[in-house]
Amino acid sequence: MEIKIIRPRTKGISNAAQTDEGKHGKTREIEPRHLADTMSELNELVGLTSVKKLVFEILAFVEIQKKRHAEKLVSEPLVLHMIFKGNPGTGKTTVARCLGSIFKQMNILSKGHLVEIERADLVGEYIGHTAQKTREQLKKSLGGILFIDEAYSLARGGEKDFGKEAIDVLVKSMEDQKDNLILILAGYNYEMVEFLNTNPGLKSRFPIHIDFPDYNVHELLEIADLILKKRQYSLSESARSALKRIIELHIGKGYEYSGNARLVRNLIEKSIRRQAVRLINKKDITREDLLLIEDSDITEARAQCLTNVKF
Ligand SMILES: Nc1ncnc2c1ncn2[C@@H]1O[C@H](COP(=O)(O)OP(=O)(O)OP(=O)(O)O)[C@@H](O)[C@H]1O
Ligand SMILES: [Mg+2]
Repeated sequence: MEIKIIRPRTKGISNAAQTDEGKHGKTREIEPRHLADTMSELNELVGLTSVKKLVFEILAFVEIQKKRHAEKLVSEPLVLHMIFKGNPGTGKTTVARCLGSIFKQMNILSKGHLVEIERADLVGEYIGHTAQKTREQLKKSLGGILFIDEAYSLARGGEKDFGKEAIDVLVKSMEDQKDNLILILAGYNYEMVEFLNTNPGLKSRFPIHIDFPDYNVHELLEIADLILKKRQYSLSESARSALKRIIELHIGKGYEYSGNARLVRNLIEKSIRRQAVRLINKKDITREDLLLIEDSDITEARAQCLTNVKF
């Protein structure tokens, strides 16, 4: 397999990205629930039209292959390894978690949990160490999804790098364990395309490629509303305008890595704390006070969240 050196890129330029919950080396178990609940959770996600369409297509395909199999008709092999391409905070992990749950409920995966890792969880420091670490992660993921973030970094060091060893072990396992393990490689668009183009043997093993586009202002405001609604808060008119202005400053060219929906989530979570500080010394706090996020909460949250981001 030919490996090409690809320029590494450090993820997350904002404090917002850093304050998000620790993501890697983590196993997310899934709660037992019904397929309909998980599907509606997926449908509730803002935008992601092509992702939802594709998920529906996969589900239909799986169901029909099962029925064909029952009728002793030739059925296509079910290979569900995937490539997710998109900037930070575009919903890749969120969708992967939903898929784990959906595939468990469809009996495609026995557990449906998500093991989210990155290069450091796979690549070791001496000969043999990488294969051992990679096998451990694969073992943890059996019955679920192994999600490798910034997967292109496995090709970072070229032929002599241990990343190549990790890729070789992964490739073998994705063939051997394809009935009870789904491998998802995720990363930025450009780097993933480069990575796969220079590793054609790898590319051909992933039948499903999903693009996660950046959200527009309207979608990011909708995501803010969704997060607030779940926590029983709402934005005042002026808070909404303040949030819109901040979002407008953080989308488009030059801000691809500033966090997308994660930035919005962090802003909202911080503004909820700012609201608490604003209200704590107020007399006669009304129900309306408790519900409403004001523009000062948003602008103070922005000051805390975005100290490292250029304007
Ligand atoms: N379409 C959406 N609707 C509602 N909330 C969303 C949506 N997309 C992302 N979010 C929220 O934004 C946050 C970040 O999303 P997520 O972690 O899935 O992004 P990611 O693409 O995996 O980012 P990274 O590449 O940095 O790991 C999560 O809290 C998630 O719930
Ligand atoms: Mg993620």
